[in-house]
Amino acid sequence: MKRTLLITGGAGFIGSHVVRLFVNKYPEYTIVNGDSLTYAGNLENLKDVKDLPNYNFEKVDITDENAVNALFEKYAFDGVIHLAAESHVDRSILDPLAFIKTNVLGTAVLLNACRKYWQGNLENKRFYHVSTDEVFGSLGEEGFFTEETAYDPRSPYSASKASSDHFVKAYYHTYKLPVVLSNCSNNYGSHHFPEKLIPLAIHNIRNNKPVPVYGKGENVRDWLFVEDHARAIDIIFHNGRIGETYNIGGFNEWKNIDLIMLLCEVMDRKLGRPAGTSAQLITYVKDRAGHDLRYAIDATKLNKELGWAPSLQFEEGLEKTVDWYLANEEWLEHVTSGAYQQYYETQYQKR
Ligand code: NAD
Ligand code: DAU
Repeated sequence: MKRTLLITGGAGFIGSHVVRLFVNKYPEYTIVNGDSLTYAGNLENLKDVKDLPNYNFEKVDITDENAVNALFEKYAFDGVIHLAAESHVDRSILDPLAFIKTNVLGTAVLLNACRKYWQGNLENKRFYHVSTDEVFGSLGEEGFFTEETAYDPRSPYSASKASSDHFVKAYYHTYKLPVVLSNCSNNYGSHHFPEKLIPLAIHNIRNNKPVPVYGKGENVRDWLFVEDHARAIDIIFHNGRIGETYNIGGFNEWKNIDLIMLLCEVMDRKLGRPAGTSAQLITYVKDRAGHDLRYAIDATKLNKELGWAPSLQFEEGLEKTVDWYLANEEWLEHVTSGAYQQYYETQYQKR
């Protein structure tokens, strides 16, 4: 079947993996990557697919209603996969309004465009909202987030994502917009912007700089290889039930400090340094304000209903990730020049 899909945020970390998967797997689809190219958006992430005939790029800010409507008129989309967002918790603490604008208003603008242009003909239409496990708040040492867990967001980032999830569900109930949602745990893999823990640590170890670990390093995250997330998005977009939410996760919990110790071992090996060299760079710094203790996703529904499961063990995925960063130093050079330096200083010099 021919389809015309808008993938928002396609120049970012996860979005670029989703775009790559879709343009390669569905040559009969017209794929439009709609992205405003913030500091996190980078067309270099898609250099391997940019010349494929079914790939299109449109520079668009999702908070700009006229621009979004013009895009719907140009392409007559029948599906939207919405990933565009401000995505970094630490930045949301520095500038919450930017998160409210893009994540809440931007999502509402897209929903409204679907309502306007799909009115009266909802057949084969679908709005897929990509969200996060952080909307569920923080777990203690036991238990998992399921699709029934009550929302309890605690950072400006997670509050903005929770709000956007609620708007998506409201458009389903009120206007019967055919929506589907997913809430995923921490992703890792290639093209991950080095403000996030794993790529930041790889970059710093490579350059013999301190590796900042917040608080005591005891916070726990559930890590999923980004290509497994993209695969889940493909399955849910095509086969997920309308109005439903699916949790996506790796069943792969790591304490931050244990993860960093493992990464240090891998880096020592890959860089030919004596064992223990990289670990000497670990530096405990002031904790993140309101730092959620633990996230853990129960992805049973997605597995039972749609047959998805993670494809990689974490150790293997981490090796692949390190290999990619070491082979793509030019990419890292580009994204860490300019404004990144200023952000890094604000974030870390005072800790
Ligand atoms: P990212 O920060 O790497 O990329 C975000 C992309 O959105 C960038 O290309 C940026 O240019 C674009 N963008 C930002 N504001 C925009 C605007 N106003 N208009 C148009 N484009 C805009 O983010 P990511 O880590 O790839 O996350 C993608 C999505 O997945 C987000 O919605 C995030 O909440 C969600 N998510 C991320 C993770 C994770 O671990 N990274 C886990 C679960 C869910
Ligand atoms: O859970 C899904 C979420 O995962 C996504 O919704 C977010 O978009 C994504 O950024 C990620 O959020 P986290 O805050 O968990 O990711 P981050 O890589 O920023 O931090 C991971 C953990 O490491 C967290 O406990 C904070 C800690 N940390 C982070 C940084 C950047 C450090 O100890 N040192 C650091 O320098």
